[in-house]
Amino acid sequence: MFSITAHPVNSKTLHSISKLLLCFTLLCTYTAIADDGAFMSKLAKALSPTPSGWSGSSFCDWKNVRCTTNRVTSINIASQSLTGTLPPDLNSLSQLTSLSLQGNALAGALPSLANLSMLQTVFLGGNNFTSIPNGCFQGLTSLQSLSMADSVNLAQWAIPAELTQSTNLVKLDLGNTNLIGTLPDVFDSLLSLQELRLSYNNLTGGLPKTFAGSGIQYLWLNNQKDGFGFSGTIEVLASMTHLSQVWFQKNLFTGAIPDLSNCTTLFDLQLRYNQLTGVVPPSLISLSSLQNVSLDNNMLQGPFPSFGKGVKVTLEGVNSFCRKDSGPCDSRVTTLLDIAKDFGYPVQLARSWIGNDPCNDWSFVVCGAGKIVTVNLAKQNLTGTISPAFANLTDLRNLYLNDNHLGGSIPGGLTNLAQLEVLDVTNNNLSGDAPKFPTKVKFSTTGNPLLGHSGGGGGSGTTPSSDSGDAPSGSPNAISSDFSLSPAWIAGIVVIAVFFVALVLLVFFVGHTKNWYGRLGKVKNLENEKKVLPIIEGECVIMPIHFLRQVTKNFSEENILGRGGFGVVYRGELEDGNKIAVKRMKCGSCKGTKELEAEIVVLRKVRHRHLVAFLGHCIENDERVLVYEYMPQGTLSQHLFSWRENDSTPLSWKQRVTIALDVARGVEYLHRLAQQSFIHRDLKPSNILLGDDMRAKVADFGLVKIIAPGGKDSVWTQVAGTLGYLEPEYAATGRVTRKVDVYAFGVVLMELISGRKALDNSLDEEMWHLVPWFRRIVNNMENILQVTDESLNLDDETMESICKVAELACHCTAPEPHKRPDMGHGVNVLVPLVEQWNPISTHQQEEGCDVIYEENYDMSISEIFSGR
Ligand SMILES: Nc1ncnc2c1ncn2[C@@H]1O[C@H](COP(=O)(O)OP(=O)(O)OP(=O)(O)O)[C@@H](O)[C@H]1O
Ligand SMILES: *[C@@H]1O[C@H](CO)[C@@H](O)[C@H](O)[C@H]1NC(C)=O
Ligand SMILES: *[C@@H]1O[C@H](CO)[C@@H](O)[C@H](O)[C@H]1NC(C)=O
Ligand SMILES: *[C@@H]1O[C@H](CO)[C@@H](O)[C@H](O)[C@H]1NC(C)=O
Ligand SMILES: *[C@@H]1O[C@H](CO)[C@@H](O)[C@H](O)[C@H]1NC(C)=O
Ligand SMILES: *[C@@H]1O[C@H](CO)[C@@H](O)[C@H](O)[C@H]1NC(C)=O
Ligand SMILES: *[C@@H]1O[C@H](CO)[C@@H](O)[C@H](O)[C@H]1NC(C)=O
Ligand SMILES: *[C@@H]1O[C@H](CO)[C@@H](O)[C@H](O)[C@H]1NC(C)=O
Ligand SMILES: *[C@@H]1O[C@H](CO)[C@@H](O)[C@H](O)[C@H]1NC(C)=O
Repeated sequence: MFSITAHPVNSKTLHSISKLLLCFTLLCTYTAIADDGAFMSKLAKALSPTPSGWSGSSFCDWKNVRCTTNRVTSINIASQSLTGTLPPDLNSLSQLTSLSLQGNALAGALPSLANLSMLQTVFLGGNNFTSIPNGCFQGLTSLQSLSMADSVNLAQWAIPAELTQSTNLVKLDLGNTNLIGTLPDVFDSLLSLQELRLSYNNLTGGLPKTFAGSGIQYLWLNNQKDGFGFSGTIEVLASMTHLSQVWFQKNLFTGAIPDLSNCTTLFDLQLRYNQLTGVVPPSLISLSSLQNVSLDNNMLQGPFPSFGKGVKVTLEGVNSFCRKDSGPCDSRVTTLLDIAKDFGYPVQLARSWIGNDPCNDWSFVVCGAGKIVTVNLAKQNLTGTISPAFANLTDLRNLYLNDNHLGGSIPGGLTNLAQLEVLDVTNNNLSGDAPKFPTKVKFSTTGNPLLGHSGGGGGSGTTPSSDSGDAPSGSPNAISSDFSLSPAWIAGIVVIAVFFVALVLLVFFVGHTKNWYGRLGKVKNLENEKKVLPIIEGECVIMPIHFLRQVTKNFSEENILGRGGFGVVYRGELEDGNKIAVKRMKCGSCKGTKELEAEIVVLRKVRHRHLVAFLGHCIENDERVLVYEYMPQGTLSQHLFSWRENDSTPLSWKQRVTIALDVARGVEYLHRLAQQSFIHRDLKPSNILLGDDMRAKVADFGLVKIIAPGGKDSVWTQVAGTLGYLEPEYAATGRVTRKVDVYAFGVVLMELISGRKALDNSLDEEMWHLVPWFRRIVNNMENILQVTDESLNLDDETMESICKVAELACHCTAPEPHKRPDMGHGVNVLVPLVEQWNPISTHQQEEGCDVIYEENYDMSISEIFSGR
């Protein structure tokens, strides 16, 4: 009845009419009458260019504007390259049901949408909005779909809590919108939600509990900012039975993959690049709906999973499977994984328990003659329970589980361990009745208030204070206070006397037994003898200087493997014939003991197939010695530059690409370590070591950190590294990023192709510095032969491969750091080149295809997200 603007009017009349309208609204508020003409003309003016078809004064006739009785219900001006800032009173369009502004370049603050209670669909993505007002989304009670994806200019904001009022919400897409904070636990009020897309933000924290039972089908939380991201377990997925697609890649999720057998519609599960541990559940392998799954670059353990034929799967990259092919693990591995399972598969175990032989340098485990004799998991912050599977380690003598947070009861099966001598569970939260062990077992249980003792004690040593034989804590003070409290003090003296006699015998005995590792670990603080054998302390192995002198023939000249900037490296030979590399640092300004030790703890945890394993260290007086795995074939530089002098053969191209890939994988792993990211800073052929199979491992990672003063968080350090391999920006500013290593890797690739050193002043001046010379020539690929090593055998296939590596080398040494790819890209480029020669196993083939998966692969995208 108040039809005012139904016919074309000129703008003057429009103006007066809107005044009239104001009058009406003031006088007759109860009718809630309004005219959207004023706002629409403001909107048309604010946009540049004016949207096509927006002419004439009847806005209801404008193209892609829909009205009902002169009230705007729908606006669609998507993808018209519009610029401008929206008028702030957008929410005066109170009848609006649909708003599509996506794919323009609209800037400034997004106007509030508050109280648009009819609004159902909103598309705002792909614009240049810079902020979102508080309460923007409140009262949107009809909202079904909200998308803001790719709003990269937005100031940091958090997921708006008021969206819980939109109980009809079906789809929420806030991918790549600069979100920070956590995912609120509100999904019990969003029961219609089917799609939740939050990729490419800087979100953190755990998955909300209210995901359980939600109807979400598409869940994208992938690619949060490097080094941040969602964390905690993904257990809740098991109860999200409507899931179809789960993208969790590049986060910090930990723990095991849950049993997803109730997720019967799940077809796409992307879990790569997290820190998941544990055995891949058989229920996942047999999940019939599954089509695509990626598990690579986690710390998954146990048997290598073999998925059905139709399933597209990536598994390789960093994982901790016991074997590279499918098939069961060694029974000792299976038992240890059963044990780890009841602790929730802690990360520190997954990091070290790699391969199929627990006696091959697994942390926390000590073997004798291939049998596990000691498990020392003291002070590891373990939660969960003590697994009955310990009973399957039939040769176990020492089991230390003290100072953790373990609950549950002590499995009775442990009493069947015939060899058991020490069981230490002090300071946990164990309950139930303690089982009764034979008297020879030193069973320490103090600090477990809920633990009961059945059977009334006896000589079994289950009473809290009777274990005066506990070597590490049994200081004289502790003993004497026990002693004075005990009424049976004569018995006490006898116990102490017996203990000392036993100790003396043990010290003698130790020298003669092969099984010294496990015993000595607990004895060392008591003896004042020369410390001549390695000592395990938590995750560190301390190598006494006497021991190192012994194995290197007193650091003799004949045992020198080489000299480097930091000191001399010696070959050491153990009694059993195994060799080690002993790096004795010359130390003018070495770090303090505490600082060095702290970094060694971290170094010890950094383990990867393509990193030279760090075995132990020695800090005594002025000695600073680091001990590494011995690499029998020496350095890459020897094989690349000095093969003639050494009377050896030049490396084939196949060997060279394989080495390049090994190095890329090792460095990629370093870069990806979440807690404390490593930047190598001194990557070069003399830090790349080779095994007898000519597979490469990267050496000296973390060394710069240990040597350089300045501490772990300083990004600006004195320039460390080696001339010729330094990225120009780093050399100029000292600013360290991962791109420093990418640059150095590019230089190594050039050296592999050319057989020429990064700096060689025996050559003409223009060729002196490898990088500019190489880049200049390869600028035209037709000239590639000019830079190719003469010792290479060049067939067509090889040439094609060399060109690809040359291209990668140039990419990696791009002058602008942001144009350099990340290490993962290097891996992706090299994988197919290596496979060209190596018979293809299915999983490796798929790893090559990872390129397709990898969103970060694309340069332009990685530029945006590399955080630089
Ligand atoms: N784990 C190892 N196994 C076998 N040989 C090794 C090992 N580590 C080092 N070497 C030998 O010792 C030499 C010196 O190594 P080192 O790491 O100290 O110096 P570098 O890498 O040559 O130079 P810089 O100290 O400037 O990094 C190497 O060139 C190599 O020949
Ligand atoms: C939305 O409505 C609520 C309640 O009617 C009111 O308190 C609030 O101020 C309104 N918000 C805006 C931005 O108009
Ligand atoms: C919009 O943002 C993009 C990316 O930040 C920028 O390249 C473009 O110039 C901006 N456009 C306008 C009109 O501000
Ligand atoms: C991501 O958020 C964290 C805090 O959670 C912050 O320290 C970090 O700087 C943020 N990163 C970026 C690139 O915004
Ligand atoms: C699957 O659902 C059934 C029925 O609700 C339930 O009993 C079972 O525990 C669920 N399985 C898992 C692994 O959650
Ligand atoms: C699985 O991945 C392949 C390759 O990335 C892709 O082409 C295909 O569409 C995916 N299939 C599904 C069901 O997502
Ligand atoms: C255990 O947790 C404490 C506190 O969170 C931490 O300081 C310590 O380093 C952790 N120890 C291990 C072995 O993880
Ligand atoms: C011990 O090993 C046997 C055979 O290897 C296995 O059947 C059994 O389940 C294991 N016991 C425990 C407690 O894990
Ligand atoms: C110890 O275990 C009991 C259950 O046995 C539990 O109620 C309690 O919270 C636990 N205490 C700690 C500190 O974990």
